[in-house]
Amino acid sequence: MTLPSILVTGGAGFIGSHTAVALAEAGYRPVILDDFSNSSQRALDGLQQILGYTVPCYTKDCNDHAILLDIFQRENIRGVIHFAAFKAVGESMQEPLRYYRNNLGSLITLLEVMLEMNVPDLIFSSSCTVYGEPAVLPVTEASPVQPATSVYGNTKQVGEEILRDVVAAGKPLRIISLRYFNPVGAHPTGYIGELPLGVPNNLVPFITQSAAGLRGPITIFGNDYPTPDGTCVRDYIHVMDLAEAHVAALQNLQKNSGNNHYDVFNVGTGQGASVLEVVQTFEEVTGHKLNYHVGPRRAGDVVSVFADATKSREQLGWTAKRSLREALADAWRWELVVNRP
Ligand code: UFG
Repeated sequence: MTLPSILVTGGAGFIGSHTAVALAEAGYRPVILDDFSNSSQRALDGLQQILGYTVPCYTKDCNDHAILLDIFQRENIRGVIHFAAFKAVGESMQEPLRYYRNNLGSLITLLEVMLEMNVPDLIFSSSCTVYGEPAVLPVTEASPVQPATSVYGNTKQVGEEILRDVVAAGKPLRIISLRYFNPVGAHPTGYIGELPLGVPNNLVPFITQSAAGLRGPITIFGNDYPTPDGTCVRDYIHVMDLAEAHVAALQNLQKNSGNNHYDVFNVGTGQGASVLEVVQTFEEVTGHKLNYHVGPRRAGDVVSVFADATKSREQLGWTAKRSLREALADAWRWELVVNRP
């Protein structure tokens, strides 16, 4: 039996590579397209170790119409999960045109090729950043979308609008945007994980690199927020849970959605954790004492955001299964593998 081929753009990246595993486990054939501008061949080697075969990978630009068309034809693509995008908030403020061209250009090109090739199903990577600083917690999909505070965040908002508009125009497309909360962790085998370039911006890779001796002490960005312990609260979700949400969304589109459909879903655990709780949980799980101090607030941080994931549970049959403890243990295992001499 031929397995349905799913194009995973950005499939060598952190979430993309884990989603390739989840797709393969669910009986799909992932086909990766990645330009390796912010990812590494290591992810492909890791996939090979986990799956026992080489996942097809095209080292190409997702903005190129002819290249996409060729891959769709050659690989008989039946659906798309679109991760490929620039994602550095600070950099996006310095280079807005590069961000808009890359993140929105690739989405538009992809949609054109999907229509040309009669491939209706698309899962789009969106972000809880669309909710800004929410007035009410937890956030549901009906919570108001707030003006973006970064160019990166705006590419996600405008991306969602493009998708809504193209479906509203009656095009034969079935699309789900997944609004991710904070993905952390790694595959439990330790073969794939996050590979941030340079000094990590995100909390968990900074923690694991600090614990491994690659970085100095952790700075906690502010402890005077209106939260129980004064540090910011986020919804940290294990990357394999997030990966499995993509498969659930794809299956939902293929089963239930007629031939013209757009919807959005939160992908979070429903639990908020503070920065201090993450630090303390890491210490408990790994037995490593972390060296940290409190510094000033980081510009642009929201105080608290965590998901109401009821809609995903009820309509996609998906719910997060893994705990923060598991995610941190897996992130640490991955860090040890990455740093093995
Ligand atoms: N934090 C620290 N010290 C660090 C790093 C982070 O205290 O060294 C704190 C932050 O202030 C924040 C929390 O840890 O309170 C989480 O920070 P991350 O950078 O890990 O995650 P964010 O919630 O800021 O970022 C996430 C995504 C981004 C996205 C952003 C806005 O990772 O891609 O949400 O939606 F842009």
